[in-house]
Amino acid sequence: MRPVDEEPPLPRRGRGLDPDGRPPYSLPSRSYYDPAAHRREMSAIFEHAWLYAGARCPPRAGRLRVEVGGREVTLEYGENGALRGRDRERDAAVAVEAFCGLLFVNLDAGAAPLHEAVEEAEAEIRAAAPRLDALHLAHRRHYELRANWKNVVDNYSECYHCPVAHRGFIDGHSQVATYSITIHPGYHHHSSAAKRRGDAGAAAGPSPKALGGWYLWPSTALEVYPTGIVSVLAVVPRAPEHSTLIIEWHCARERPTPAELAVIEFLHDTVRSEDFAIVESVQRGLRSRSFERGPLMVDAERSSMSEHAVQDFQARVLHACERVR
Ligand SMILES: [Fe+2]
Repeated sequence: MRPVDEEPPLPRRGRGLDPDGRPPYSLPSRSYYDPAAHRREMSAIFEHAWLYAGARCPPRAGRLRVEVGGREVTLEYGENGALRGRDRERDAAVAVEAFCGLLFVNLDAGAAPLHEAVEEAEAEIRAAAPRLDALHLAHRRHYELRANWKNVVDNYSECYHCPVAHRGFIDGHSQVATYSITIHPGYHHHSSAAKRRGDAGAAAGPSPKALGGWYLWPSTALEVYPTGIVSVLAVVPRAPEHSTLIIEWHCARERPTPAELAVIEFLHDTVRSEDFAIVESVQRGLRSRSFERGPLMVDAERSSMSEHAVQDFQARVLHACERVR
């Protein structure tokens, strides 16, 4: 067995990848717990990607400290009125951009602008949440998960586990057969039809319109609920087998209404809690000596049972790490 601190093998483009450069198999299980693989991903991905920094801008004549991917960054306005940021640990400038009224930071000041990769996503989100700019951060939770950050994103990137793992939500609110994920250069768009009142099993709760989710590489997702509220999910890698998941709820008022709070608590008590149990169980399983990697199930229709978004995410991880070999 390889010593734990030695880097696990990484498939290279043209070796073990399909003609589009995508992996037919999942990432090596070791990359989900190996300290060297974790360090490689932190430097190859998290030091060069756009990461969620929060919804609040600094005061005009002051500074705001925010945590970005586990690092402390100071945001302030420059003399030209533009928002700028500084990584306190490295005392280096960082890139700052607003997306859908939310702040994103890239620790690489020379990174390609965020809006180039997600312009279409912003239009889709604004169409689904027309009052986006008037929303307030009304509720925030964070969860410490005994899981690698990729495991959390893998779980978010497919819904074939939904009929089994989220039976209560599926029975009452969502038509899983309509669950669709489309792949775009900088993001994945998730959508599914909600059950109409009168459908067998439809329950009161998140009401009968399409549910929309936008996963932004590498570690953020925005969800728009039919009630008009927006949820932001951000995964912060802490260690190879420890991630923090921040979940924010942006509502019309500074506090959620009782009805909004009921939706929030329903989702946390069902879908989120069920997913946390899955990712922690998967994390334990990844350490099994009998498992190295498995085939990714991708169908031509990109159906609700397909793992094409998992494949795309894992390909991005591979290619990002490949660039810094
Ligand atoms: Fe789930």
